[in-house]
Amino acid sequence: MKGIVLAGGSGSRLHPVTFAVSKQLVPVYNKPMIYYSLSVLMLAGITDILIITTPGDKPAFQRLLGDGSWLGIRLEYAEQPEPNGLAEAFIIGEQHVGQDSVALILGDNIFHGPGFSRLLQSKTDDLKGCLLFAYPVGDPNRYGIGEFDDDGNLLSIEEKPEHPRSNRAITGLYFYDNDVVGIAKGLEPSPRGELEITDVNQAYLDRGRAKVVDLGRGFAWLDTGTHQSLLDAGQYVQMLEERQGVRIGCLEEVAFRMGFIDSDQCYRLGERVAKSGYGKYVMEIARAKADLTTA
Ligand code: DAU
Repeated sequence: MKGIVLAGGSGSRLHPVTFAVSKQLVPVYNKPMIYYSLSVLMLAGITDILIITTPGDKPAFQRLLGDGSWLGIRLEYAEQPEPNGLAEAFIIGEQHVGQDSVALILGDNIFHGPGFSRLLQSKTDDLKGCLLFAYPVGDPNRYGIGEFDDDGNLLSIEEKPEHPRSNRAITGLYFYDNDVVGIAKGLEPSPRGELEITDVNQAYLDRGRAKVVDLGRGFAWLDTGTHQSLLDAGQYVQMLEERQGVRIGCLEEVAFRMGFIDSDQCYRLGERVAKSGYGKYVMEIARAKADLTTA
C-alpha cells in the first residue's frame, strides 16, 4: 500500500500565522503538524509516501523531512498549485500510486488512541473498496458526515450537510483500492469548485464497497483548523506527553518501533536534536530497547 499526505491549501483560517509558513509545518506543541499525520501512515506499516504541498512550501517540507531514508522510509514530493479539492491528490499522485492500493491522510489531522497501529495494520491487508474512519462530533455541519450499519457498511455520505443524518464525521484518513485513481479522474468539480473526497466515497458507496470504522470513545481526533483548536490540540499533546511520559507523533520512535530503523540509528537521530527534550526522549527509547535486548 502506498501513502499520500495532502499538505496544501492556503491555511487562511490561521492567518497571519500561515502567511509565510505552511499550516502543516506550524508546531503542535513540540513538533511540526505534519509529524502527526505522517506517523499515522507509518504506524499503518506504509513506507512509500508522497507529500503533496504548494509549490512555494515544497522546499520547506523537503528541508524538514528529506527523502525519508533517515526514518527508513521513502518520501517523494509533488505540488498542488491550487487547492482544487482533496480528490485531486489521486490525480497528482497517479504515478506514485501505480497499481497499488493507497492511504490518504490530510496533513492537518491528528489521531491518537489505544491500539491504533494494530487497527490500521489489520485493515491494510487485502483492501477491497474503500475504508473510512468515523468520529462523533458536536458540529456535524462542518464535516463530511456518514451513516453506517452495525457491520460498518456505509449507508449514506454528505459533505457539510445542512441537515445531518448522523453525528459521525468522516475523518481525514482514507484507505482505497486502486480504482480510486480512475474514480478521481472522472469527477466533476462541486458547486464550490473542488474535486470532493465525499464524491469519491459516494462512488464507492454506489458500488456497495464502502466500509467505515467507528473510532468512537477513548479515541482522539483533533482539529487544527483555527487558532483556538490549534492551541487546544497543542495543550492536549502536552498534557498527555507530560502525564504519561510518552510522545505522540514522534517519527523517530515510530520508525524504530515499526522496525524501519534499528536502535543505533534511532539513538543517533536523538543525538541530532539532543538539546531539546525531544532528542533526549528519542535517545532514551533507543537505549531502553538496546538494554532489553542485551539483558
Ligand atoms: O478533516 C476532515 C474533513 O476534511 C472531512 O470530514 C470532509 O469531508 C473533507 O471535505 C475535509 O473537510 P475540510 O472542510 O476540513 O477541508 P479543507 O478544505 O479545510 O481541507 C482540509 C485540509 O486539506 C486543509 O489543511 C487544506 C488541505 N487541502 C485542502 C484542499 C481543498 C489541500 O491540501 N488541498 C486542497 O485542494
